[in-house]
Amino acid sequence: MNEKERDALLKLQNSRNHKALCPKAVERVFLQALARYPCLKEADKAARDQLHQIAGAFLRTGEVKRARNLLDRGAPVEALLALHASTRERPGWREIYGRIFEKAAPAHVVDLACGLNPLCLGALGMPCLGLDLYAGAVELVNAYAARAGWPVRCEVWDLLGDRELPGGDLVLMMKLLPVLERQQSGAGAHLLARAKGRHKLVSFPTRTLGGRNVGMEAHYENWLMDHLPEGHRVRDRFVQNSELFCLLEDTNG
Ligand SMILES: C[S@@+](CC[C@H](N)C(=O)[O-])C[C@H]1O[C@@H](n2cnc3c(N)ncnc32)[C@H](O)[C@@H]1O
Repeated sequence: MNEKERDALLKLQNSRNHKALCPKAVERVFLQALARYPCLKEADKAARDQLHQIAGAFLRTGEVKRARNLLDRGAPVEALLALHASTRERPGWREIYGRIFEKAAPAHVVDLACGLNPLCLGALGMPCLGLDLYAGAVELVNAYAARAGWPVRCEVWDLLGDRELPGGDLVLMMKLLPVLERQQSGAGAHLLARAKGRHKLVSFPTRTLGGRNVGMEAHYENWLMDHLPEGHRVRDRFVQNSELFCLLEDTNG
């Protein structure tokens, strides 16, 4: 990187919408954009668009501030969950986890690209470690869980890096794999194969953000079957509120 590019990266990392993201991930996205667009202005715009698609679109900067206010006022967990697009679209989470816990019987859950979802697990008394590149979400979950006395902890983590992943009895990859594939072709399949746990819960949206049914359920289910890691079988499969859930079991022993 030359000096102008380094300055642009620093500015991007410290900008209002991106300073709560893992700086290494912002750098990765910026470098990818620079490789595609020789013009710095275009690369900067492409990086901002990509960062919006992978993180900002789900939990906006203003919502993080609102969530902190709710936290200070001791609001119920549902009020916070409603601020993140993914948990907002999952009002039946108690029922979903009831069904999954019955089959997988986990004692500990690892939630990859967790958003605010570890708050659901905490409310159910399930110990959970959540990882996400969005420090704003990580801090919110940690603050709420500490106040509630829940066995939940989150860390800032870029899943496209090469750090070894922590293992759990049940590993969640919810509404994640297509987001990773968009960042780097093959990254979703690679994560699915290297995640460590006897059970893995993956989910996919079945409708567009505008609510249209354009065949996403069949598309993502076929994708999953094509990328099922060796020795894995589907233990459960269901659709709830425009989300396809597949519980995988690693039978490798
Ligand atoms: C669609 S949301 C899903 C959130 C949560 N899994 C759920 O379903 O409630 C996608 C999440 O992936 C996170 N994310 C995207 N790319 C990531 C990466 N490379 N490493 C870690 N987290 C990532 C975003 O910050 C966001 O919280």
